[in-house]
Amino acid sequence: MNKSLTEIKTICCIGAGYVGGPTMAVIADRCPKIQVTVVDLNESRIAAWNDQNLNNLPVYEPGLDQVVNRARGRNLHFSTEVDESIAAADMVFISVNTPTKTKGLGSGQASDLRWVEACARQVALCAQGHTIVVEKSTLPVRTAETVKAILQAAQQPQADNQPPKSFVVLSNPEFLAEGTAIKDLESPDRVLIGGEDANAIDALANIYSAWVPKEKILRTNLWSSELSKLSANAFLAQRISSINSVAALCEVTGADVNEVAKAIGTDSRIGPKFLNAGPGFGGSCFQKDILNLVYLCRYFGLPEVADYWQNVVTLNTWQQHRIARLVVKSLFGTVTGKRLALFGFAFKADTNDTREAPAIQIAKDLIEEGAQLAIHDPKVEAEQITNDLQLDASPPPDQASGPSKAALGGEGTWWPSTNISDAVRGADAVLILTEWQQFREIDWDKIAPLMRQPAWVFDARSVVDPSAVLGAGLKLWRVGDGAT
Ligand code: UDX
Ligand code: ADP
Repeated sequence: MNKSLTEIKTICCIGAGYVGGPTMAVIADRCPKIQVTVVDLNESRIAAWNDQNLNNLPVYEPGLDQVVNRARGRNLHFSTEVDESIAAADMVFISVNTPTKTKGLGSGQASDLRWVEACARQVALCAQGHTIVVEKSTLPVRTAETVKAILQAAQQPQADNQPPKSFVVLSNPEFLAEGTAIKDLESPDRVLIGGEDANAIDALANIYSAWVPKEKILRTNLWSSELSKLSANAFLAQRISSINSVAALCEVTGADVNEVAKAIGTDSRIGPKFLNAGPGFGGSCFQKDILNLVYLCRYFGLPEVADYWQNVVTLNTWQQHRIARLVVKSLFGTVTGKRLALFGFAFKADTNDTREAPAIQIAKDLIEEGAQLAIHDPKVEAEQITNDLQLDASPPPDQASGPSKAALGGEGTWWPSTNISDAVRGADAVLILTEWQQFREIDWDKIAPLMRQPAWVFDARSVVDPSAVLGAGLKLWRVGDGAT
């Protein structure tokens, strides 16, 4: 590609995950003249993206199947041929995982950039001619410096009279939320492009302008773009910790957090969104990005700023333990050997993603206390729950023969339950942790007789109709509700 050209014909996206897959599907759908190839080292993931049965796509997002169906095979391709796809591309998106480091320097806080670095090296090696490299993964500020340094080394004169290579690095963070990914991609609040090279920025802006109004495409320098993503997530997470802190106060003062949220949200400066109290935020981004911010603040000698953001995470973890503790306390101080139906394992509704889901910590706490959990989620597979809890599922207890040996021995267990009635049979409590629509529609009059009395409903998402639960003779705790 000529360095001054702003028309992109071929895109390669490295990483076919929650971000890369849906983002590239929408770009391909909206820009039929651009050939888009999404590559990944994970063969089974690529096979799933290529599966003829659209129910088997590796990411569940409402509307994604239709988008993939329109573009796949036409100008959207999923492949494991990383090197070839990079070589053919005018523009390469890096959309790989950047989890929190688990060991070494910055362990528990800093992002692990080994996959990003590996990608940069791969691009340096395989790219041909002029290539625009776009950081799509959420990255610590100044990561572009690392990527640039690796690419620059490859710009040196090539052996064997190979044509010279050149690179430009842009930052284009993705703000999509899971469960609404397609909607967010098709009508984003804004698209952010950070960089120094006007031609390259134009080339990327031209792609988005196929469907995004021009005034929503923001241009910044590289570092502002990288920092904006971390800051946006930190602000959003902070709102959730703020409302959850108010919820705890509501419960002891007789106030109702839903009423408080409405009252404060009508102030146009505060706004009504992201004020739902719950079991704490989950997802792959919020905790990771805040910890990353905390690490950066300490690195740059700003310990007070680091402590400020750290508290957002601390309160979130506290909320999860608090909910597990109050379940135990309400059930006469012990859940050992008791059956509890846990509804919802995904970190929020309309996704099968369980990364950092509050259900993981809450379930672990209850299992530690010896509970027998029937876990029901409409989209999360049993295998995923096993991985998250680091505990194999037990066979469901047999009603006729009573509690299992493990249960009598006080050992906590869990089993997957595919339907609501099976999950609640013989249970002392239902604990709602994800706001799936199904849970709003539960007929409590039918459920109550199946449970062991006195039975509880713990609604950590405020989705039930309190009068229906109480009317069915069940006891109720709702997050942030000091009135029940
Ligand atoms: C988030 C950001 O919204 C998105 O812009 C960024 O690109 C990635 O991180 P995501 O993690 O997919 O997206 O989900 P989001 O809808 O933001 O929810 C995050 C968590 O906060 C969920 O666990 C959700 O249940 C919780 N939440 C959200 C609340 O508890 N209350 C709310 O009012 C909103
Ligand atoms: P995200 O939520 O950011 O999309 P995921 O973990 O869902 O993150 O997806 C990241 C994907 O990137 C994974 O499927 C992983 O296999 C892939 N990946 C990581 N490193 C490389 C690499 N060097 N080359 C190709 N794919 C990679």
